[in-house]
This record gives sequence, C-alpha cells and structure tokens, in this order.
Amino acid sequence: MQNHKPLVVDNSGIDPQTNFSANPEFADILAANLQRRSFLKGSLGTAIATMFAGGLAGCNEGGSKAAVALPAAVKPEPAPVLLGFKPIATSRLDAIVVPEGYTAKAFLPMGTPLTGSYPAYRDGGSNSGSEMEQQVGAHHDGMHFFPLDARGEAKNSAEGVLVFNHEYCEPATLHPNGPTAAPRPADEVRKEVAVHGVTVAHIKKDGNGQFQLVQGSPLNRRITGATPMEIAGPARGDSKMVTKYSTDGTRTRGTLNNCGNGYTPWGTYLTAEENWAGYFMNSDAEQPREHKRYGVATKNGRYSWETADSAADQYRRFDASTLANSADRDYRNEPNTFGWIVEIDPFNPDSVPQKRTALGRFGHEGVVFSPVVEGQPVVFYSGDDSTFEYIYKYVSKANYYKATAGGHLLNEGTLYVAKFNADGSGEWLALDINNAAFKAKALAANVTFSSQADVLINTRLAADVAGATKMDRPEWGAVHPQTGEVYFTLTNNTSRKDNQIDKANPRANNATGHIIRWRERSQPQASSFDWDIFLLAGDVGTETPGTGLKLTADNHLASPDGLAFDKNGLLWIQTDMSGNQQSAGPFGNNQMLVADSKTRQIKRFLAGPIDCEVTGISWTPDMKTMFVNIQHPGDRSTFSKLTSNWPATDTISRPRSATVIVTKDDGGVIGS
Ligand code: FEO
Ligand code: CA
Ligand code: CA
Repeated sequence: MQNHKPLVVDNSGIDPQTNFSANPEFADILAANLQRRSFLKGSLGTAIATMFAGGLAGCNEGGSKAAVALPAAVKPEPAPVLLGFKPIATSRLDAIVVPEGYTAKAFLPMGTPLTGSYPAYRDGGSNSGSEMEQQVGAHHDGMHFFPLDARGEAKNSAEGVLVFNHEYCEPATLHPNGPTAAPRPADEVRKEVAVHGVTVAHIKKDGNGQFQLVQGSPLNRRITGATPMEIAGPARGDSKMVTKYSTDGTRTRGTLNNCGNGYTPWGTYLTAEENWAGYFMNSDAEQPREHKRYGVATKNGRYSWETADSAADQYRRFDASTLANSADRDYRNEPNTFGWIVEIDPFNPDSVPQKRTALGRFGHEGVVFSPVVEGQPVVFYSGDDSTFEYIYKYVSKANYYKATAGGHLLNEGTLYVAKFNADGSGEWLALDINNAAFKAKALAANVTFSSQADVLINTRLAADVAGATKMDRPEWGAVHPQTGEVYFTLTNNTSRKDNQIDKANPRANNATGHIIRWRERSQPQASSFDWDIFLLAGDVGTETPGTGLKLTADNHLASPDGLAFDKNGLLWIQTDMSGNQQSAGPFGNNQMLVADSKTRQIKRFLAGPIDCEVTGISWTPDMKTMFVNIQHPGDRSTFSKLTSNWPATDTISRPRSATVIVTKDDGGVIGS
C-alpha cells in the first residue's frame, strides 16, 4: 500500500521579495523636480492628437523630437470599426463569458493526446509520467500562433503551429489522491516535471471551419522540464554553469515555470522562465549570491522533487547543495542554468532549445520586441516579476537584416535596466562590465564581477548596482505596432510602504496594480525615454490622475498581467488576481479587457471560469480567430473538493487548463 501522506504544496507567494538592495526609493528624488511637465501635457484631446499625429515625435518637451523610423511592414491595414461590442459584466460563473455575437470554445486542455502513442487523457489523475510526456501540459500561459507560412508573409489563417507555455502544476489534482509526501514517488515527480514546459501543436481548420489538432503531425512536440537544451551566449561554458550533466557548462535539462512568452521577427518562439528558483533547494550554510538573490529554497523545493525515491540524477538535480568535491560531480550549479529566455524553433521538431543568456537571468515574465527596422539592432523588453524587481531592455550588437536574421542576434548585445525618473524621463542603464559608469558603480558598491557571464548570471545584483527603479512586479510588456510605444503591466505590490512610493509606482500597498508606458527618444535602441502612467487599476471610480480615465462597471479590474497589442492597435489586458481579491473581490473571476490606447476607452471582453487566471493571447493573421489561455481553473481545488470543473460542464470532472478559441459569429474581426 502506498504511503499517501499528503505533500503540502504552497503555490501562493511564488513571487517572493528577494530584492533588499539599497536602491533609492525615490522619496528623495520625488522632491527633486516636480515641476517638469507630465508625459501627456494639457487637455487629453490635444495631447493625444499631438502624440499620434506625428508618430512618436513632439511629445517630449525636454528631449529629442526626432521621430522613430517605423518599418513599412507594420503599417496598419484599413481599420475595421473597433470596440463596437457591448462590454460584459463581471462574472462568477464556471464558464467563459464573451460579448453578444462572439463564441468561445475550449481547445487542447491539459492531457490532450499530442505525440507518440497519443495516450488518452483519463480524468482522476491516473495518467502516468510517461503518458504525460506525450500529452498537452498543465497551466497554459504565454502563447503564439505561427501561421504555416510564418517564415514568409504569414497570411495563412487556416493552418499553423500553436505554441504555448505550461507555467506550473497543481499536484492536488494531478494525481489520483493528491501528491505523496517526501520521499516523492519517482513517477509522480516525472509526471509533474512533464506537465511543465511548452506544447507545440500543429492545428488546422476542418471542413466546418473549426480548428483541430493535426494527429500524427511531425510538428507536434512536447518540451518539458527534462528536455535537453543548449546554453547559448556569454554564459555558455562558464564555470558557474558546470554540472555533472554538462561538465563543460554548455547544456542543461528542461525549462521551468514558463510564464509569459515572446516570439522573434524570424519566426521562432521565446519562452520565459519566471519563478524557477523555488523548484531548487540548497541547504549549504551559505548560499552563493546567484542562488540567494533569486530565492533558491534552503530546505525543500516547491514540489520536493529532490526527494524522489530514485537515485537518478534526473530527479536529484533539484538539490543544489554542495554534495561532492567539485562542480562537475554534483548539481550545485543547476539553478544557474535556469532564469533565462529560451528560444524554440517550432518548425523544426528536432531542434535543441537555446537558453539565450545575453538577455539576462531573472524571473522573466515574458519578452517582447520592438518593430524591427532593416539595418538597425533588434530590441527586446523583459520584466522581472517579483516584488521590487526591474524592467530590462536588450539591444543586439549586430543589425537586423531580414535575409540573415536568426538566433545569433540574441547571443551578443547589451542588456540595460530601466530607471524611471520623477520628472517623467527615464534612462537605460547598461549592465556591461566594460561600461565605465557600471564599473564605477560596482566599485563604489564593493561588488566584483569576474566577467560579463558573471554579470549576466547575477543580473539582479548587477541591476541593484546600476541603481534601477524598483517596480511593482513587472509582468508582460507590449509594443504598439504602429507607434512603437511600450506598455508594461505592474500587477501589484502590497509590500510597498508609504515612504517607498515614487512617480512610477505611485501607490503604497498597491493591491490592484497599474500599467506604465514609455516612448523611446529617437530610436528603439535609445538610452533614454519618456514615460507616464497609462492606467491605475482598481474598483469602480478609480481615477488615473491627469488623464480623465475613471473606471466603471464596464472596465474595473485588478492585477493586470497578460498584455498584448493586436495588429489593429488594440491593447488587450488580462488579469491574474489571486487569494481574496479573486474569490471575494468586486471584480468577479479573472478577465480580459481591451483598450484603445489613444482614447483610453476600455471594455471588458471576456471573463474566465472560477479560480482561473486569464493569460496568453494570439491571433490568426486575418484577426478572425483569437486564442486565449485559461490557467488553473479551480485553483483552490483538491481531488476531493473541486471548486471548478471547467472545461467540463458536469460536477465531477477535475478542472483543466485549456486554450479558448474565440470567434465572431458574423465572421468579423475580433474586437470589432
Ligand atoms: Fe507567472 Fe508573473 O505571472
Ligand atoms: Ca503572468
Ligand atoms: Ca501574475
């Protein structure tokens, strides 16, 4: 008889504060210059008219007025009439709610047979670890639809590859009777590792115009927490990447806690490793800075995988304690091989995922690129979602040329971190061991970096040293496809005290979050920018000062997280409330809203089932199909007490994360 002592898994509090650096809290800077004009000066209408009439030019009194050169390829198509739908009310239903005239349908739920022998999903948690490796994973998150012709003009709206992340797992409903306490049965661990990672699903419309999985397609693929990967970029081969598995520090196994995503202009998928640190433990008396600053556990990992009742390294590697007399004989460096952006080629099922270390190591929420310009560097933005962490920008060293673009652009470049000044200006601070200002700050702080690899492995520390602005948990970013303006969600931060507020994070005990935006001065690769607050989230009546925006029953929201612009320039905002805010707040279930970023008109478009998060979004090129992910419905469920059965409509099926396909009943453009 099996030992079924329950393992108590705490999936809450997975964004811990590990930033206790002495960076300025801006109380001092606040006093410095409150006179400078706000980002959008004067009446809303005048300011917006000015801003958008001339692209990015003319809005910044103090800075350059040069316009960004916008690539011809991203010019808008003739615009349909947008935001014509009637907003939905908040919902407490165990169902997807969309506006009148729209239909939503669940697709590819956790456990869907995907590869190999296509093992059937069995309700009740009885699929084995090896079966789960051939099925769609759990906790669907960031997502991108690659039309089958994505390497070309990307016009195919009927067939493509849908790629999506699996952020974490819920052992309480994954196994027949919940998780077994340590020592964990090896197959439970194998299954939990397998539901993490990424799904690559070849999908095609059938004769009825409905997307279906293409059974047997060689493009169908599961990437899991155990898939072999290459370390690429400056940290490849570094001594801190050496493990028993890769004694030359060039490879690792798996990707974990894949939250938001990105994609590249050359048709590859990017997955972000967010709250990976808690999966590992290191019980050494003193953890190295590359563990401690990220929150590697001191006792047991989140799911106690390191206690698997198997001696195999595949399981034991989650123990990052010093266990042998050299790094090539244990897994003390295993956590250093996580915390990266991983590039995956969805069109080559044999390709080895590449961990792109030049983009830094932190709790990557997601990654988003600025519209590319032939002959200019590629620019990517990424937020570090933990309390008081930072926003980063990567600028490639080589210039982008469509004919030659590829992963090399992610291997060599400069990583910057954002400093938001109180006067509405901002600076990108280089985290570069050869940068004079950075070197001087490191010297002054008595912090030593041995190489650029060391800087990147310790990105958070480097950003502390540089003097970056501590943010209210940066989540997704989105870049306006026509103007190049960058928007970032700051989901919430209840740890911010009154004496810690600053202009960019203006509320103490920020339970509901906000959205910040900026415009680079001149080119996307510029070292300075101008910013303002786009939206303060909250209950009905919440105002965003100086903008005329006051939330109503049609658009009140909390904890914005997922964020994306569609090709028509609409800004889609997804929420990730948890705890009391989710279960008993005035906002109903987690939801998705859509905004006109010019006018700040915002309407609620979708509400998810009970205890879910709404996250991940993509579209077909014709904008007539939208894919949205529903993560962890029934988040508070145990196997014996379910709070949701979604996507099933009975009362006994265990809830499952799934993608949702949204279409307009008249065949029109989504958002119209
Ligand atoms: Fe995984 Fe920061 O949301
Ligand atoms: Ca998220
Ligand atoms: Ca979140």
